[in-house]
Amino acid sequence: MTMPTSVTFTETDIERLGDHAGRVAVVVDETGKMDVSARRVNRLTKGALKRALEAKATEGLKPGTVFTLAYPAGMAADAVDVLCVPRSAPVHKARAAGAIVGKQRGKADLLLATGSSKWAAQIALGAVLRDYSFQAHKTDAEAKAGSIEVMCNDKAAVSAAAEPLMAVAEGTFFTRDLVNEPANILTTTSFADRLVEMESIGLKVEVLEEDKLEELGMRTLLAVGQGSASPTKVVVMQWNGGAEGTAPLALVGKGVVFDTGGISLKPAAGMEDMTMDMGGAGTVAGVMRTLALRKAKANVVGIVGLVENMPSGTAIRPGDVVTSMKGDTVEILNTDAEGRLLLCDAMWYTQERFQPAAMIDLATLTGAIIIGLGHENAGVFSNDDTFCKAFLKAAEAEGEGAWRMPLGQAYDDMLKSPIADMKNIGGRPAGSITAAQFLQRFVKEGVPWIHLDIAGVASVKSDTPLAPKGATGWGVRALDRLVADNYETE
Ligand code: BES
Ligand code: MN
Ligand code: ZN
Repeated sequence: MTMPTSVTFTETDIERLGDHAGRVAVVVDETGKMDVSARRVNRLTKGALKRALEAKATEGLKPGTVFTLAYPAGMAADAVDVLCVPRSAPVHKARAAGAIVGKQRGKADLLLATGSSKWAAQIALGAVLRDYSFQAHKTDAEAKAGSIEVMCNDKAAVSAAAEPLMAVAEGTFFTRDLVNEPANILTTTSFADRLVEMESIGLKVEVLEEDKLEELGMRTLLAVGQGSASPTKVVVMQWNGGAEGTAPLALVGKGVVFDTGGISLKPAAGMEDMTMDMGGAGTVAGVMRTLALRKAKANVVGIVGLVENMPSGTAIRPGDVVTSMKGDTVEILNTDAEGRLLLCDAMWYTQERFQPAAMIDLATLTGAIIIGLGHENAGVFSNDDTFCKAFLKAAEAEGEGAWRMPLGQAYDDMLKSPIADMKNIGGRPAGSITAAQFLQRFVKEGVPWIHLDIAGVASVKSDTPLAPKGATGWGVRALDRLVADNYETE
């Protein structure tokens, strides 16, 4: 996998600022107040930093921004990046500033002189997250070059604070790699293999094969994959870091490794984007990796349904009626509304086996959510206000866009079928909501549940503050924080 650049931590030694080749970064607040390192840079550059800060101060220095002094006279460095990160800044501003220097670094050695900034570790996380590039299929891929060193006044405290954050970075990179990977490489089998590999970091991983899924009665899940040469699988990942016997938080992910639409075939233009239709499963996997790496004191189970939606002589047809694991029958009117078919069985299985304290499903479920919310926010649907608020709070703190959408009986009524218990589409109006209503039919009474429609945010066509274009890893940070703030013991 693409590994995050490892960050080293050293004690502040301002003598090194003048000699460091590569890039040097210093931190100031919104008033332009210089710390010891910044003052040293100012001295070395014969007042250039102070003049720049004074010029910037007239328009106001904005938290989360960076300006650069290129080829500073009096220093060996090619550039000095000046980060504006006041103590009072929210954490995402610290990361945003870090991300800018992470990007600007290129292949240079970056010396981040954070002094006594309380945001040192978060700045480092920003730098590391933005410094991602998917090189797996470039034959001329160059090895990652250059280093990131954080020079700070309390090395022990900053490196301790950075440890769980680097687990978040690695989990996010894992998700991004999975989402970026083309479907001929990331088949249901190779996806499952990559998840099984996480046994090496302490996760318990099981792969349920088709015969087992058949035995369990997961017919709607199997129906989605029955036109593909790749076998359908369900992978169960368990992280038991919490008190024994405590009901787990369950994360359930849609893992359609490629969505052609099936017999209800999608148009050719843009179909290649459907390599990301396993984004829900990819995010669940990244969160599980993060929790294991930072040894979270919580019980969390991640369950993903891995299928490929293909048209073929064995594929499901529009009009087919299939029985779910729950026992409810579904009239499949559109084979392209496949995500809900696999999720309903995966969610039912999750509840039957684990009796989770709460359940969150993630899926690139509907194009309609992109029409509604664009690429800025994931759609959030929930049957429980308290649980939903806790998630929205975590997402907000992490700077991951999330917006609550409504549910209601009238939407559910749109799923009525004349011949089965329900149909798998509700028509064009409120397409994301009827998809969520379909899922809610498979949530047991009393289980707090959130459905995250991540179709618009899992992979995007332009750079975002913390990621280059392509897979974002949306949700890994929010879910990790949700666990940290609500499910960890002591
Ligand atoms: N995987 C798609 C949704 C999607 C669209 C994800 C664009 C990412 C980007 C999903 O399986 C799908 O095809 N949904 C249909 C549902 C419809 C047939 C009711 C859609 O949104 O058009
Ligand atoms: Mn589809
Ligand atoms: Zn799909």
